[in-house]
Amino acid sequence: MQRALLLENVHPLAVSILQSAGFEVETRKGALDESELIEALEGVSILGIRSKTNVTERVLRAAPQLEAIGAFCIGTNQIDLQAAAARGVVVFNAPFQNTRSVVELALAEIIALTRRMTEKDRMLHDGVWDKSANGAHEVRGRTLGIVGYGNIGTQLSIVAENLGMRVVFYDTAEKLALSNAHRMDTLEELLETADVVTLHVDGRSGNAGMFGAKQFARMREGSIFLNLSRGFVVDYAALRESIISGHIAGAAVDVFPHEPKTKGDAFESDLRGLPNVILTPHIGGSTEEAQESIGRFVAGKVRDYTTSGSTELSVNVPNLQLAPSGVGRVALLHRNVPGVLAEVNRILADHGANIEGQLLATRGEIGYVVTDISAVTERGASKKLGRMETTIRLRLLDDLEHEELPQGPAVPA
Ligand SMILES: NC(=O)c1ccc[n+]([C@@H]2O[C@H](COP(=O)([O-])OP(=O)(O)OC[C@H]3O[C@@H](n4cnc5c(N)ncnc54)[C@H](O)[C@@H]3O)[C@@H](O)[C@H]2O)c1
Repeated sequence: MQRALLLENVHPLAVSILQSAGFEVETRKGALDESELIEALEGVSILGIRSKTNVTERVLRAAPQLEAIGAFCIGTNQIDLQAAAARGVVVFNAPFQNTRSVVELALAEIIALTRRMTEKDRMLHDGVWDKSANGAHEVRGRTLGIVGYGNIGTQLSIVAENLGMRVVFYDTAEKLALSNAHRMDTLEELLETADVVTLHVDGRSGNAGMFGAKQFARMREGSIFLNLSRGFVVDYAALRESIISGHIAGAAVDVFPHEPKTKGDAFESDLRGLPNVILTPHIGGSTEEAQESIGRFVAGKVRDYTTSGSTELSVNVPNLQLAPSGVGRVALLHRNVPGVLAEVNRILADHGANIEGQLLATRGEIGYVVTDISAVTERGASKKLGRMETTIRLRLLDDLEHEELPQGPAVPA
């Protein structure tokens, strides 16, 4: 029975999905450090982690049986993806399973800030009754400016329109405008148009400090700012100045350049104590629904890889979307150099293999060829495929052959 190790309190649904797929599953509450992880990975073929476990090259080198890693989160910076690919370890994450949770938090904040709810709330807790409508608005008819029109930006666009907001967006990539949203040609144009500006850009390094004093100054007087994307994209000292001066009427911030590691650690920020500013501890995607959805999605991807060889949405190897074949399947991760396909087919032909179908995809230095075979007249093909100089990892699915495979991937130690 293959073994799976799930760390960091991964959702129980992931455990039952892997158990139903025939895995013996061990779960642990916390993260492991490098040496603990190396020890725990003995005999394990599937590893599940969240953001706190680092999977380094050393760990990968020490775990030759490891076939796949499920990152039950969005980010994969904690995994050495290249080293994993070079050893035939396929990595999956959950790219959009908490999208809706982020969208709902952004919407709640847009309404709360536009109504100046945080101030009314604080005053009433202090015993001050102030029923004034000054500075409080409906969101209906106001313009939402979305910077970064990806998974989150587009979903927010649709829901905000349903609330009666006008939506404009700016994205560096060509994007289809959904429903009645309007594409802005430049960020400046968006800033001059929107009553609420919300950032949903990705974490590419070029986005560091993309939003600062210049951009806040360009925003409309009395407008509102949100950042639920990445902490390092915004100059928060500049945001503080814009709020104190009254140019920006309110802000909501969920992500920070330096975030405390654990509950109870001190939190420092230029934004603490400012009026009409909502601060949340990076909880945009943190809902029970999102956790369940992440558990189902990532465990499903890992299960599909082990049963059908499908690498759809893997973040480090070529993507092939595959259903179970019903015949024998040879799945070969290899170095992407000329001649591999020809060699694979020559070996299969030499063994009288009847090829039913074949798919090849490449990604950088890695290639993935999957061949479905209905019959072989002579055994021994898998040994030859496994020993090809270019082979990284060979897997035989659907019990075509029952011979011993060479131990571990054929990569340099
Ligand atoms: N707060 C949270 O808990 C939480 C949860 C999930 C995701 N996120 C973050 O939200 C962000 C968006 O997530 P997503 O899933 O929508 O990502 P995505 O990759 O689907 O979309 C990002 C979009 O931003 C665009 N973009 C990148 N740089 C840009 C720039 N400088 N100007 C304009 N457009 C730019 C890209 O072209 C892309 O369309 C990410 O940074 C992600 O890490 C935060």
